[in-house]
Amino acid sequence: MNHDLEQIKRDIITSIDINAPIIGLRNPMVGAGAEDHQWLYPEEYFWTDSFWTGELWLAYMITGKQEYKNMARMRYAHLKKILDTPLWLNHDLGFEFSLSAVADYKLTGNLKARDLALKATEALRNRYNWNGQYIVAWTAGAEDKAHAESVQGKIIIDCMQNLPLLLWAYDETNIESFKQVAIGQAETSLKHLVRDDFSTYHTFDFDPVTNKPLKGCTHQGYSDESCWSRGQAWAIHGFAQLALMTGNLRYAELSENLTEYMLDKISEDMVPIWDYLLPENEIQYKDTSAGSVTSAGLYILSEVFDKAGKSEKSEYYKNIANQMLLALREGYDLTHDPKAQGLLSNSASSVPHAMERNLPYLANAMLPYGDYYYFEATLRATGHTKFFGK
Ligand code: GLY
Repeated sequence: MNHDLEQIKRDIITSIDINAPIIGLRNPMVGAGAEDHQWLYPEEYFWTDSFWTGELWLAYMITGKQEYKNMARMRYAHLKKILDTPLWLNHDLGFEFSLSAVADYKLTGNLKARDLALKATEALRNRYNWNGQYIVAWTAGAEDKAHAESVQGKIIIDCMQNLPLLLWAYDETNIESFKQVAIGQAETSLKHLVRDDFSTYHTFDFDPVTNKPLKGCTHQGYSDESCWSRGQAWAIHGFAQLALMTGNLRYAELSENLTEYMLDKISEDMVPIWDYLLPENEIQYKDTSAGSVTSAGLYILSEVFDKAGKSEKSEYYKNIANQMLLALREGYDLTHDPKAQGLLSNSASSVPHAMERNLPYLANAMLPYGDYYYFEATLRATGHTKFFGK
């Protein structure tokens, strides 16, 4: 196994250099297939629109090369359009604006980027149901009224990754409601999306009128009661990050328990199958994006415990993070292939949708968020601690 973490970093930068002119102004959505490592792009908009931009900002952060900054900034017209298009507004504003406008402001002091990120934070706060204390995850158009109604009271575990935008905005402005929304959403997720055994529901429905809790469900997992591995990864990373940002070790303890559940279920190679409760007779697709998100999250957990003076725990989580990162490097890293446009193969965007729509690339291909978190995990593994959250 190649243990040279600095070499992974260099290989990622080489891949970005090769692919930046090919990708140009577009925003990667998903790889074309299991063996076809070219990107597919959304027609206009998709929630994944800032992960490549995030990679460009990480590259700028560690090299200082202006070209990455300039390429990342070429996305501003699109980012403004997102804020002006009601049907594109959803909980993913946190991913979209933390990895672009907040990154720009943090790294360069660009005040226009700060203004745009604050507008995005307001749009995210507008999604909060103050009575039910949750962020409504999705927006659906009127063409399918039943679906549009069904999402009015829906929260999802992925939203944990969007809370840093709110906490950043609170630090910038001292406006209390930004923090209240972040903590409210985290507490509601903890109560309803995390099960007693520390597995997770992907989504949870409330009655949007009475806010009565209804039921846990899935969207991309095997079944409502299974444990979608990327959802578990968003929770491990999200709660560890929240502990780091708030200093509240209760969130770190939760991330630990979620991790223990993951460790009990993960295959020996330390690369997650797409659902931790997948029956043996189903195709055992890997989801390397769940692996990279989890690995990055465990480096954060290690940092939290290091800061709290708990060095044994810190080492324990760092060791697991390393194992998961190196397993990706060994089995799924594409940086040796000059034709590959991304960094990691074998991610599962949504296996149920792949089956339903007969689109195999949704079950097994590259994903831009798998790549972003692979880069983040590699940087955390090599000692970087400053990222684009709070
Ligand atoms: N946030 C959607 C996903 O993880 O696929």
